Formats: sequence, structure tokens, C-alpha cells
Amino acid sequence: MATKIFILLIFLITLNLQAQAWIQAAYYDSSSSLPVSSVNSALFTHLYYGFAGMNSSNFQLSFRFSDESTVSSFTTTIKRKNPSIITVLSIGLAYGNYSNFSLMASQPSYRESFIRSSIETARLYGFGGLDLSWTWPNTSFDMKNIGVLLYEWRAAINSEPRNSSEPRLLLTISVHYKPIIGANSFPVESIKTNIDWANIIAFDYHVPLKENVTGNHAALYDPSGHVSTDSGIEEWLRRGFLASKLVLGLPYHGYGWKLVNKNDYPNIGEPASGPAQSVDGSMGYK
Ligand SMILES: *[C@@H]1O[C@H](CO)[C@@H](O)[C@H](O)[C@H]1NC(C)=O
Ligand SMILES: *[C@@H]1O[C@H](CO)[C@@H](O)[C@H](O)[C@H]1NC(C)=O
Ligand SMILES: *[C@@H]1O[C@H](CO)[C@@H](O)[C@H](O)[C@H]1NC(C)=O
Ligand SMILES: *[C@@H]1O[C@H](CO)[C@@H](O)[C@H](O)[C@H]1NC(C)=O
Ligand SMILES: *[C@@H]1O[C@H](CO)[C@@H](O)[C@H](O)[C@H]1NC(C)=O
Ligand SMILES: *[C@@H]1O[C@H](CO)[C@@H](O)[C@H](O)[C@H]1NC(C)=O
Repeated sequence: MATKIFILLIFLITLNLQAQAWIQAAYYDSSSSLPVSSVNSALFTHLYYGFAGMNSSNFQLSFRFSDESTVSSFTTTIKRKNPSIITVLSIGLAYGNYSNFSLMASQPSYRESFIRSSIETARLYGFGGLDLSWTWPNTSFDMKNIGVLLYEWRAAINSEPRNSSEPRLLLTISVHYKPIIGANSFPVESIKTNIDWANIIAFDYHVPLKENVTGNHAALYDPSGHVSTDSGIEEWLRRGFLASKLVLGLPYHGYGWKLVNKNDYPNIGEPASGPAQSVDGSMGYK
């Protein structure tokens, strides 16, 4: 499923960040084979490097061996075509088991080590911001601890000793299309208070590995009230989140289903028997 995160375009839905009308950003996935130099950075205001991992014995950031040279030259390469672009280091897993992130977020000393390392790593490699890409925190324990982590992270970023010429680091997070997963709510108040903006993952609503009928995986609106971007955003706003801090994630991938009745016209809601074309049915824009 790495391909599906691989270049995801995100646009700010409303205005007003730092006198800049739009956030036009994308995630670069280092596990893709796309060379960094082929990214047309002139199209973007921000580019995310995905992903820094975390060493589970000391809770500091870590990179796979194969990523070390990519991450150290990323910002320089990206700025060549667009000197004013801001790069952001995203921390997370392309696929994954976040149990060690749960552990990190649960203890003050682990969080401190993680936060300190994240700031040092961002500065070392010339990033202008940090991003948490913990996409499926699905327990109330994790949700609560992420809330605490963001308060401490923001405080550390604000008090980081730095030269006056360097702007403070940005802090962003990527979140589910709606502010709840199962019965557990995201820490809306903490996210609203502490982050510069949240990237909304507004896709993968229906996928062939999970459902045997064809579905629209990134429906913007559904008049019958089924899962859609509109319903998710409404819920974020109803819970007090700020429209000015919402950035909408758009997929640059689609899905193929194998139809049960091969002669059927391919409609939404048609019986299917799993993915077509690739292991999970996903196909990238390229
Ligand atoms: C993780 O940290 C431990 C303790 O500092 C260190 O010994 C180990 O080499 C690190 N692992 C990686 C993959 O960086
Ligand atoms: C979590 O950390 C433990 C201890 O360092 C390690 O053995 C395990 O592989 C890690 N789990 C994952 C999913 O990364
Ligand atoms: C995730 O990793 C933890 C620790 O490494 C392990 O105990 C757990 O079984 C793993 N969970 C899944 C769903 O693989
Ligand atoms: C949380 O997600 C993990 C990995 O997807 C899954 O194994 C676990 O059962 C989920 N827990 C809950 C409470 O939904
Ligand atoms: C501030 O700038 C000086 C000179 O460019 C540099 O040596 C120093 O490391 C910088 N300090 C910080 C905190 O970035
Ligand atoms: C979809 O149908 C196929 C073939 O009948 C079956 O093997 C698979 O388990 C089904 N998948 C789901 C998610 O129901």
C-alpha cells in the first residue's frame, strides 16, 4: 500500500496561514523509486519527506540505511527548482504497526527524547517543519497521549534556541477524514491549539481488499449520507476544529475491482470478488 501514499496532493481549503493564501503540498515517499530530482517542486509551497521512523530503544528518530543519503540531500535537491519551498520531515510508517509509538507517547521521558531528537534531526537536514503521520491511532489511550505529546512538542518548538534568521519549525499532523476512529475521538482541542495545520486523509473509503462491491474511494459528497469527505469535514468543524487549519488530502491513486458478472456495466455498488490489476487493486497516477 506504499504506492498509495506516494504522491498525495494536499490543498488548503481556506486561507490565512502566514500571509500565504494556499498550502499546496505533497508527500514524497522514499520507498517509491521516484528520484527526488524528478519532483517538480515549483508546483508546491511545501514538500513532505516520508518517512522518518523511530528507534524503539531510545525513541530517537531513525532512518533506514537506504534512506540516509536521500534524507540528507532532500531539502537541497528540492530547493533547486523552488528556493522558497519549505520541506517538512514526516514521522511515521508507510505501513504499519504503531505499538512502539504508543509506548513512546505514554511516558514523559520517552516523549522528551522523541521531541528533542525530532527537532535536532529537522535542523540537521534543513527541514522547516515536522509532521506526525500516525494515521490509525485507534485506542483512547493513544488518542489521549497524542494530545499530551502535541502540547509538549509545541512548547519545545517554541522555546528552541535558534538564530533570529531561522523561522521556528512548523508542526503538522495527518489525520483521519473524520475526528473519530471506532469509538475514539482524536484530541481535537490539542490538535487545534498546537499544530499549524492538519492534513486530512480524505480517501480509501472503499477498497477491494475489504469490500466485495465496487465503491467510490474518495467521494467528496454522498446525498444518502454514506462515508464522504463532506461528512468527515462537517464533523471536524462540529467538534470545534478550525477550517483555517484544515488541509484536504487528494488521492493520486485509484482502485480496480474484479467484477463478479463480467458483462455488467461497471457501476458503483456492483458485486466484485476482490482486487484487479494489482495485489490490493491500487494504481498510481503514473
Ligand atoms: C537504536 O538505539 C540504540 C541505543 O542507542 C542503538 O544501540 C542502536 O544501534 C539504534 N538502532 C538503530 C537502528 O539506529
Ligand atoms: C518495537 O520495539 C521492540 C523493542 O525494541 C522491537 O523488538 C519491535 O520489533 C518493535 N516493533 C515494531 C512493530 O517495530
Ligand atoms: C505490533 O508490534 C508489537 C510489538 O512489537 C507486537 O507485540 C504486536 O503483536 C504487533 N501487532 C500486530 C498487529 O502485528
Ligand atoms: C488497532 O489497530 C490494530 C492494527 O490495525 C489492530 O490490530 C487492533 O485490533 C486495533 N485495535 C482496536 C481497539 O481497534
Ligand atoms: C547560528 O549561526 C551560527 C553562524 O552561522 C552557527 O554557527 C550556529 O550553529 C547557529 N546556531 C543555531 C542555534 O542554529
Ligand atoms: C471477496 O470475494 C472473494 C471471492 O469470492 C473472497 O475470496 C474474499 O474473501 C471476499 N472478500 C471480502 C472482503 O469479502
